[in-house]
Amino acid sequence: MSDAAPEQGNPRDDSLRELAVADTLTRISKGIAHEICNPLSQITLAADLLGGQRPLTDERRSQIAKVLHQASQRIDRAVTQLQQACSPLQEAMEVLDSGPLLQGTLSALKLPAHLSLEAEIPTQGLPRIKANAKYLGIALRHLLDNAIEAMPKAGRLTLRASTRQIGQSQRGSWQQSTSLNAGDLALCIEICDSGPGIPTQQLHLIFEPFFSTKPAGQGSGLGLAAARKIISLHEGQLDIANLPQGGVCATILLKALNQA
Ligand SMILES: Nc1ncnc2c1ncn2[C@@H]1O[C@H](COP(=O)(O)OP(=O)(O)OP(=O)(O)O)[C@@H](O)[C@H]1O
Ligand SMILES: [Mg+2]
Repeated sequence: MSDAAPEQGNPRDDSLRELAVADTLTRISKGIAHEICNPLSQITLAADLLGGQRPLTDERRSQIAKVLHQASQRIDRAVTQLQQACSPLQEAMEVLDSGPLLQGTLSALKLPAHLSLEAEIPTQGLPRIKANAKYLGIALRHLLDNAIEAMPKAGRLTLRASTRQIGQSQRGSWQQSTSLNAGDLALCIEICDSGPGIPTQQLHLIFEPFFSTKPAGQGSGLGLAAARKIISLHEGQLDIANLPQGGVCATILLKALNQA
C-alpha cells in the first residue's frame, strides 16, 4: 500500500469545477422544465377544455386533439433524446460495411430544395467498422439536422467519407474515451455546412444537454449531447469545428476493423 498523501485538488480549480457543474445542472433543469413541463401544461389545459361544461364544435375539438398530439410528441422526443444522451447503448454492435451504411443514409436524406448537396461516398474501399447501425444512424441524423437547420435560406451540405490514418497530434488532443491510437486506420465521416458557423464563445457549450440557440419549440439542445454519447459508446471521436471559409464541419472517426 502506498503511504503517499492523497492528492489534493487545487481549491481554485475545484471551485471552478463546482461552478461549471452547477451551471450545467441549472441548464438541464431549465431544459427539462421547458421541454417537458411546457407541453405538459398544454396537455392539462386541453384536458380541462375537453372535460369542461361548454359544448365544443368539431373544429375546436380537432384543434385540441392537434395540441394534445404535438405536446405529447414534444415530450416523447425530449425523453428519447435525453435517454440517448445519458443511457448506455442497449443494442448489440455488429460488423458493418461502412459504404452501404452511408449510401443508405444518403438515400434517406430529405434535402430541402434551397440547399445543394455535395456527397463523396466511395462505393468501394471504405472500411468495415464495429457499430450499431440504428444508433450510428441517429447520430448522423442529429448532425445532418444541425447542418440543414444552420442554412435556412441557401447553402451547401457536404457529406464525405474516407479512410484516414490517425496522426500523433490528433490522438494527443482527444478528450473522449476512444479505441483509436496514432497510426490506426479509421473511417472518417464529415458533415459540413456553409452556414454562419458557431460563435467562438459558444463552442465549449454545444455538447451540453439543453444548450440551444434555436427558437422555442425548434430545438431542445439534446442532438449533439446524444450524438457525442453514441459516438463515444462506439469508442470513436466526434469533433465539431468552424471552417476557415465559414460554416461548420462535424467529423466522426471510427476505428476501421481491417487495419493495414
Ligand atoms: N452546424 C451548425 N451550425 C451552427 N450552429 C450549430 C451547428 N450545430 C450545432 N450548432 C449549435 O449548437 C447548439 C446545440 O446543438 P444541438 O443539436 O445539441 O441542439 P439543437 O439543434 O439546438 O436542438 P435539437 O438537436 O435537440 O433539436 C445549436 O442550438 C446551435 O447553436
Ligand atoms: Mg440539433
